[in-house]
Amino acid sequence: MNFYLCLASLCLGLAAAIPPFDRALDSQWHQWKAQHGKSYEANEDSLRRATWEKNLKMIERHNQEYSAGKHSFQLRMNKFGDMSTEEFKQVMNGYKSNGSQRRTKGSLYRESLLAQLPESVDWREKGYVTPVKEQGDCGACWSFSAVGAIEGQWFRKTGKLVSLSIQNLIDCTIPEGNNGCDGGFMDNAFQYVQDNGGIDTEECYPYVAQDTECKYKPECSGANITGFVDIPSMDERALMEAVATVGPISVGIDSANPSFKFYQSGVYYEPDCSSSQLDHGVLVVGYGSIGKDEYWIVKNSWGEAWGDNGYILMAKDKDNHCGIATEASYPKV
Ligand SMILES: *[C@@H]1O[C@H](CO)[C@@H](O)[C@H](O)[C@H]1NC(C)=O
Ligand SMILES: *[C@@H]1O[C@H](CO)[C@@H](O)[C@H](O)[C@H]1NC(C)=O
Repeated sequence: MNFYLCLASLCLGLAAAIPPFDRALDSQWHQWKAQHGKSYEANEDSLRRATWEKNLKMIERHNQEYSAGKHSFQLRMNKFGDMSTEEFKQVMNGYKSNGSQRRTKGSLYRESLLAQLPESVDWREKGYVTPVKEQGDCGACWSFSAVGAIEGQWFRKTGKLVSLSIQNLIDCTIPEGNNGCDGGFMDNAFQYVQDNGGIDTEECYPYVAQDTECKYKPECSGANITGFVDIPSMDERALMEAVATVGPISVGIDSANPSFKFYQSGVYYEPDCSSSQLDHGVLVVGYGSIGKDEYWIVKNSWGEAWGDNGYILMAKDKDNHCGIATEASYPKV
């Protein structure tokens, strides 16, 4: 009797101290840590390993289902592998959706009478889009999105593609209601650039991935805008028209699902995606289709190693999937 009890408690004790890892994954875990420059204390290592394994198994399961034709996109393990969904949200998603505020600002978008829109558009091929950037541990996605839209419109007007300062918007748009690395809103950023009479170049005011004091220098100005336009909410046809006729457009999306974090390629369609709970600012740079799957081409700010060379194809004309047309806007130059 005692013998059995003793064994049972011993097992429990062991289980609490060392989570039941899949030992077959040991070398893969060490490899992953080395690849991404991660090292942890023993306690944290177990917790991180547990999260990583869970993510890895989820990714493998998804990709098996993909092979069986159940999904239109594939996943891949990446640098976010040891982060839980909650932790990830805190660090990476800094888009503060505020519909009521949005509709009071900017001019109303008027749909033109263009009946025939091109079947596909990719502004990258026309020189409108700067390389994919990496936000790091700073929730300033909104600034990357706003800067990308201004870069595109500035190119349209001047024929010059100038990398503009993400950090300028992080540091200087507090009065407009933004919160730097703790989140913000593209329209607030446009409002600042308009009122300020310029945004500096990236070269002159480089990204440091943290909140610092506003250091705008007029002599470093790289672009100006005269206002901004809100696209009618939840209207993918209006968004399509804007993308086709204007250029890259700033949008808010729901990126909170693990499938987004580990996206690799294909057309992203996530049944759990919300079209109203937006948490991430990104840039639509075009649209197209693979077979019958229509997509938006979306530039993210998680580096080129994430997704499809830093981009994601998101389902288009699927009932405003992930809210891509819920809060779309662009600057006027
Ligand atoms: C949203 O905008 C409204 C109107 O400008 C403002 O009163 C409210 O505080 C804002 N909410 C957030 C969360 O920023
Ligand atoms: C933007 O406007 C300001 C104020 O008129 C001007 O000083 C600046 O040179 C402009 N920037 C560019 C890039 O044209």
